Amino acid sequence: MKKLFKSLWILLGFVLIEERANGQEENAALWGKTSQSSVWEDEVSTYAIDGVFTTWAHTNSETDPWWRVDLLKVYRVNRVTITNRNDHASRINGAVIRIGNFLDIYSNTICAVISSLASSATATFSCGGMEGRYMVVHIPGDQKMLTLCEVGVYGYLSGNRAVGGAATQSSTSGSWFAEKAIDGNRGLQQLYTGCSSTPAETNPWWRLDLRDVYRVSIVVVTNRHDCCAERINRAEIHIGNSLENNGTNNPICAVIPSIPAGKSYNYSCDWMVGRYVIVYIPGDQKTLTLCEVEVYGYLAENLAVNGVATQSSTSGDGFAEKAVDRGLLQFYTGCSSTTSQTNPWWRLDLRDIYRVSKVVVTNRHDCCAEQINRAEIHIGNSLENNGNNNPICAVIPAIPAGESYNYSCDGMEGRYVNLMIPGDMKTLTLCEVKVYGKGPCLKRSFVRMQFNSSNDLTDPSMREHVLKQLGSALADRGLTDVKLRWSQTPKPVIQKVNDAKRRCRKEN
Ligand SMILES: *[C@@H]1O[C@H](CO)[C@@H](O)[C@H](O)[C@H]1NC(C)=O
Ligand SMILES: *[C@@H]1O[C@H](CO)[C@@H](O)[C@H](O)[C@H]1NC(C)=O
Ligand SMILES: *[C@@H]1O[C@H](CO)[C@@H](O)[C@H](O)[C@H]1NC(C)=O
Ligand SMILES: *[C@@H]1O[C@H](CO)[C@@H](O)[C@H](O)[C@H]1NC(C)=O
Repeated sequence: MKKLFKSLWILLGFVLIEERANGQEENAALWGKTSQSSVWEDEVSTYAIDGVFTTWAHTNSETDPWWRVDLLKVYRVNRVTITNRNDHASRINGAVIRIGNFLDIYSNTICAVISSLASSATATFSCGGMEGRYMVVHIPGDQKMLTLCEVGVYGYLSGNRAVGGAATQSSTSGSWFAEKAIDGNRGLQQLYTGCSSTPAETNPWWRLDLRDVYRVSIVVVTNRHDCCAERINRAEIHIGNSLENNGTNNPICAVIPSIPAGKSYNYSCDWMVGRYVIVYIPGDQKTLTLCEVEVYGYLAENLAVNGVATQSSTSGDGFAEKAVDRGLLQFYTGCSSTTSQTNPWWRLDLRDIYRVSKVVVTNRHDCCAEQINRAEIHIGNSLENNGNNNPICAVIPAIPAGESYNYSCDGMEGRYVNLMIPGDMKTLTLCEVKVYGKGPCLKRSFVRMQFNSSNDLTDPSMREHVLKQLGSALADRGLTDVKLRWSQTPKPVIQKVNDAKRRCRKEN
């Protein structure tokens, strides 16, 4: 039996897919700065992240002891792992794990409470992507001591690039320091202390140094909520690399018409490039108050900063991450190093595909500079043989001790950058690896779709509606960063249904 449909639309869609955040999680604690409420004997806070199971961070017996790691940037934390010491296991009972952006412990959100944990056991607490720069473990109560053998904080960098930058402003009113606009919280909890502010003056400005050049997609500004919301009106957001006139000569991303009290508004900057973000109000007797400035975008230059590093083996505390300084030069922590082994390698996952123009490698300066000789730089998308089968950009002949050499890769495409030394009894030590290039490359694919529709797809608003529906169908499947557009206007066709296909469907 043949059936004729009234109309069957043939639709051609152009689907732009950007793959994101599917890289490995990293243990952000390894990069963090630790502290604790007190130190018992010499059992310092860093012992909880040294990878050694026979040392632990230990406070005195006191009221409400705590241990904290500052991850230096805002992370979306998926899980926290805690390894208990091999004796006095019950001391951990009742410890609370919190994550958030506040230095005040109790303002952060609770991820988990440890009821008990066997000696030498490692427990994993799921935090479901809680956002925060700080992870705190504390034990409420009197005469408590907190001991932590090992702590891991696993997650991804969150999108806000402002945290970890350096903020300054034209002048400061009281304790309304410039940094308070990038403390990671929108400042609305602490009425008078959570925001930055200048006094009333001529042409006040606030400036953020992102420490690296970014392509900025949006800037989010949070206005004060206690009073005088209208003071933000006509503030200009500038982005660029110039410090001329305190940065106010850089191009304008947006002029803020107004922001209601306590609200956060987004300003789209269309990938403007710059290291500095300036908020500036021209005029006399102006006060610039900012409760939070968030900056979203991608690194325009050194791509290594947001990558995840791993290596074939680790010698001592020569963690793979140490070859990537995260744009936090002041926290420079040394070099990565493998043990002496066969074909040692180090790999950076850029998390997206980039076209790499060059790789800069800094050699160790203390000794044995020749160990780097014949290291190969590989770039590509394959993880076959741990990524060491990807095409070679360069083979390093030699780098003098402590020097940085550039290797041009001429736009090679890849998500993974590997360094590998072929041979036996080799040690790969890297003090810094920087990767420059363009991207992320968006994965583009055409999708040809066929479906029934009684709607009139010659109507542009109906076509938009169908795209939206398709977008939400893809979002349900986890593809959220997808841009869709029609590559061809759909045409109505009359089609006969193929008998064979229908039989097929019945049999299934
Ligand atoms: C930069 O800002 C300071 C503080 O407001 C001001 O004194 C100085 O004149 C400004 N410089 C320029 C060139 O605008
Ligand atoms: C503003 O930007 C943030 C961060 O990307 C995003 O989560 C939010 O949905 C945006 N809001 C609007 C109204 O665009
Ligand atoms: C290496 O790259 C850096 C960073 O872009 C640049 O400043 C430097 O001039 C380059 N050196 C050489 C020799 O190409
Ligand atoms: C089109 O719609 C008709 C009537 O609802 C249905 O029987 C047929 O299976 C549909 N065909 C496709 C390709 O979805």
